[in-house]
Amino acid sequence: MGKDSNGNETIDKLSGVGPATADKLKEAGYLDIMSIAVASPSELADAAEIGEAVASKIIVDARKQADIGGFETGAKLFEKRQQVGHLTSGSKVLDELLGGGFESQSIIELFGEFGSGKTQIGHQLCVIVQLPKEQGGLDGEAFYIDTENTFRPERIIQMAEAYELDPEIVLSKIHVARAYNSNHQMLLVEKVKELSKDISAKLLVVDSLTAHFRAEYIGRGALADRQQKLNRHMHDLLRWSDLNNGVVCVTNQVAAKPDAFFGDPTRPIGGHIVGHTATFRIYLRKSKGPKRIARLIDSPHLPEGEAVFTISEKGIRD
Ligand code: GTP
Ligand code: MG
Repeated sequence: MGKDSNGNETIDKLSGVGPATADKLKEAGYLDIMSIAVASPSELADAAEIGEAVASKIIVDARKQADIGGFETGAKLFEKRQQVGHLTSGSKVLDELLGGGFESQSIIELFGEFGSGKTQIGHQLCVIVQLPKEQGGLDGEAFYIDTENTFRPERIIQMAEAYELDPEIVLSKIHVARAYNSNHQMLLVEKVKELSKDISAKLLVVDSLTAHFRAEYIGRGALADRQQKLNRHMHDLLRWSDLNNGVVCVTNQVAAKPDAFFGDPTRPIGGHIVGHTATFRIYLRKSKGPKRIARLIDSPHLPEGEAVFTISEKGIRD
């Protein structure tokens, strides 16, 4: 009951939604009224195991209650764009590739094979985000949703020391949660939204965005479902970045085996859904020794290009 972390009315209040239906809807990823307002009766009926007529009624009520709003003037949007911050990575060439660093109010997707540096960049950003703006940071704290148990405080300590920061303070400003499955992962974003009222965070890392989804939704039959949930998850993340003027960085492994749907082993998991919602996509690949190659793909306003960086003891460098 009441309001969720965005101040939105929760779905329990919709007419036709009892506690059991509410639970099923939440489990399927319908966490707020807006997500129901834009759903189709058949998808909602499937998700909550209710009839389509009931689903239609719920949707009608959700549309009544949702604040559809939506239009903003170009001037307002321009003003918002002026607030965009740039979080640097430790590598000048990588920052240049991104037009000055990782932009706030956006999602940056890092995709690439194992060992390509996705997790290392995630760690590095958690340290640099705490630096003042003059030093390439965003003067904020970090959230890290860890799905593969690869967050390492020891690594943060090394990276913090490289900037002559007090590692203990740096660690105290990184809020890490382990996600045990894809639904838990989505709920953790809700938690992040709630905590962001008290914690001034400017970075949210989801490492990995897709691993749980990939493991849980197997085969062609599950694909539509998987994509739908991933889509909702991505929009939740985008909303956080918007509300907090923060950077969202998600990682995505390139399928080692051909994906059931996309086939091509070099295509990132989540395909079009993740790709279209991410504002920037960076394809990482291994080169000699500690060298890695980053390639910017499909950026809205930057040219495609490549940058070579290295992973060192200190973190990400040129
Ligand atoms: P997956 O999660 O398996 O898909 O890989 P990833 O893309 O997240 O790779 P990750 O960021 O974990 O990169 C691992 C690589 O970073 C290792 O192969 C090392 O080359 C390098 N690396 C990790 N830790 C250190 C370190 O402490 N010092 C140095 N010099 N290199 C490190
Ligand atoms: Mg990793």
